[in-house]
Amino acid sequence: MTKFTVISGSSSEELAKKLAKKLDANFIKSQLRIFPDGESKITFQKKPQKNKIIVIQSTYPPVDENLIQTLSIISKANEYATEVIAVIPYMGYARQDREFLPGEVITMKVIAKLFKSVGTSRIIVVDIHSMIGLKYFNIKSKNVTAIPDLVKYFAKLKLKNPLVVSPDHGGKERAKEFAKLLKTEYITLEKQRDRKTGKVEIKSTNFDEIIGRDLILVDDMISTGGSIIKATEFLKKQKCARVFVACTHALLRNGAEKKIKNAGVTKIISTNTIPGKTSLVDVSDTIAKAII
Ligand code: R5P
Repeated sequence: MTKFTVISGSSSEELAKKLAKKLDANFIKSQLRIFPDGESKITFQKKPQKNKIIVIQSTYPPVDENLIQTLSIISKANEYATEVIAVIPYMGYARQDREFLPGEVITMKVIAKLFKSVGTSRIIVVDIHSMIGLKYFNIKSKNVTAIPDLVKYFAKLKLKNPLVVSPDHGGKERAKEFAKLLKTEYITLEKQRDRKTGKVEIKSTNFDEIIGRDLILVDDMISTGGSIIKATEFLKKQKCARVFVACTHALLRNGAEKKIKNAGVTKIISTNTIPGKTSLVDVSDTIAKAII
């Protein structure tokens, strides 16, 4: 008998199948119907055996819908499992992990409580926005990084003396790790975001080391593309060669992909934590290693 059963939510079905294959696990799809009033109706397609169950579902938009579905699947899985491991490749709400302005709700804290209350015994996430979010989980939690997987992809591209760039100080360690694995250098830009309007500005002065080099902007996620666009505009003014983007989670909201391309980015490469046109890097192996 295999040790694990993988149950997918509808937002991560392909990744779930890959993970089940890597773990030699049973795979159960959950069928989703959305009722006219917006409620989600979830049905497991097969009855799970009594073993460890991995529930995998990213909570990208529609975030609240995907979240309630994830919690519902975990709760049902708990009726059969000896243990339920939640794999949330992209954790929505991870940017709401502290009170930036007075009165703000720390929604990440609420979500952490919900995962525990439905019977999650372990949670695995991929490149969560910040480790602060994971501290709210009163269960075993682990963040795995997709940086080595992304680097493998970039190592195959014929880049001209590549330089890794973090668009802000929050992403410095990520860029440092990326550069180390790619055996090159990195720089960090100074980004400022207006907490009320969300508007982004780059405050850095020019960098001599970028002239004539291909650049790789590394970020955990792209949402509206505002951070990447401002960083690209700043870098392009300084005679760099091409600008590539490497990110784990490409949400690409509100036409972000087109806007990023128009700003001068040659290619966006992301992972399959969020499936889409740019998700060329598979993280199932990295997740599988974190489970075993
Ligand atoms: C911010 O600190 C994050 O690491 C991302 O840079 C940011 O959330 C991306 O959002 P957007 O694409 O809307 O600028």
